[in-house]
Amino acid sequence: MKLADNKATLSFSNGKPSVELPVYQGSIGPDVIDIRKLYGQTDMFTYDPGFLSTASCQSAITYIDGDKGELLYRGYPIEQLAQKCDYLDTCYLLLNGDLPNEGQRTDFHKLVLKHTMVNEQMQFFLRGFRRDAHPMAVLTGLIGALSAFYHDSTDINNPEHRHISAIRLISKLPTLVAMAYKYGVGQPYMYPRNDLSYAGNFLRMMFGTPCEDYKVNPVLERAMDRIFILHADHEQNASTSTVRLCGSSGTNPFAAIAAGVACLWGPAHGGANEACLNMLEDIQRNGGVAKVGEFMEQVKDKNSGVKLMGFGHRVYKNYDPRAKLMQETCNEVLAELGLENDPLFKLAKQLEKIALEDDYFVSRKLYPNVDFYSGIVQRAIGIPVSLFTGIFALARTVGWIAQLNEMLADPEYKIGRPRQLFTGSPRRDV
Ligand code: ACO
Repeated sequence: MKLADNKATLSFSNGKPSVELPVYQGSIGPDVIDIRKLYGQTDMFTYDPGFLSTASCQSAITYIDGDKGELLYRGYPIEQLAQKCDYLDTCYLLLNGDLPNEGQRTDFHKLVLKHTMVNEQMQFFLRGFRRDAHPMAVLTGLIGALSAFYHDSTDINNPEHRHISAIRLISKLPTLVAMAYKYGVGQPYMYPRNDLSYAGNFLRMMFGTPCEDYKVNPVLERAMDRIFILHADHEQNASTSTVRLCGSSGTNPFAAIAAGVACLWGPAHGGANEACLNMLEDIQRNGGVAKVGEFMEQVKDKNSGVKLMGFGHRVYKNYDPRAKLMQETCNEVLAELGLENDPLFKLAKQLEKIALEDDYFVSRKLYPNVDFYSGIVQRAIGIPVSLFTGIFALARTVGWIAQLNEMLADPEYKIGRPRQLFTGSPRRDV
């Protein structure tokens, strides 16, 4: 870490001596005040629920400028990656720090696409679930269970084990997500086909059946790939911080990723695309575009408990750059499938238009996030709503594993252990 020229001084009004705190400089973005020695020096903790002002680690993977609406993976703008690279290039970039050259690209694609099959025993494990189990419940179980199948890559202190488990997770997630789907609809699992692209293979495992050949539609393949790229990493969000915290105890990578999946499930995080589509369907059922005004009044009424799902973001206080790319993909997919007049897409555009002009949203800097349009795209492709978060988990796995491996390779890493401001009863006798 690079020390900044200045230092921070913390002074107290009760006569306690003030303390000087070092300041570190990032390559871009805000500097940080180093408070690691604060407790030792002052007997005090800092208080920051929800980590609004706390950097929990140093990282060189993803940078977000929320005010500008900018997202960089290893320095590259998300727009350029979405237009010029595919998901596996993006995975290589996130894991290794640079885009692959031609040889590295071929090798990496081969490596990932060769390890798509899962242990045959996995399907019997799946059978323990009810057919109507939520796919995220199934995935949390299956991904955690990978550690029971791959004993040879669970030592997180061994960089080779970390590499092998990273490749295994990226390769096998599409297979597991498709298996969770097929189990729910009662169709046979489709074994992966390693001659297809990562996204094409996923589409075939989802929608192919053994009864006939499945031809991958290149527009849908590109859309799927883009969904994966846009969700690949997003710096220290709730699920990534969960993976880091979980992994900081030294647990195996599969268990740490399963913790990330569990965190992602929530409606304020990865479950937002599911919540957003449910919201659009509700409005459509209750009168559609004509009822948008009424719905917006509810959103603005704090007592109603209604939120405009797919809007707002902890970090972006501007248009989420991923939302723009997703809107573009939405147009392409709907045109390909002849669904240009899809009522939910029209409804979403109308909601967005009103929100972008309404003072409630403008003054709070609430803009569409990536999930506002991703649900419409996925629904058009034929993915059921309950699987949306599973697709997000599939795509984010590379980000989680890159962040986990970065932490484990960092000599400054320690087991995560936040402190608290205790407000309960002082000691008392029974
Ligand atoms: N609809 C209505 N009002 C909102 C919304 C929304 N979607 N989001 C924020 N607000 C309001 C809050 O009520 C608050 O108002 P107040 O200042 O009058 O009290 C203000 O905007 C600030 O919001 P916070 O909740 O403080 O913002 P925070 O950073 O904590 O929350 C969050 C961000 C959780 C994403 C929130 O905007 C939200 O719940 N959005 C809907 C769910 C969603 O789309 N999540 C996806 C996130 S992206 C992702 O995980 C891929």
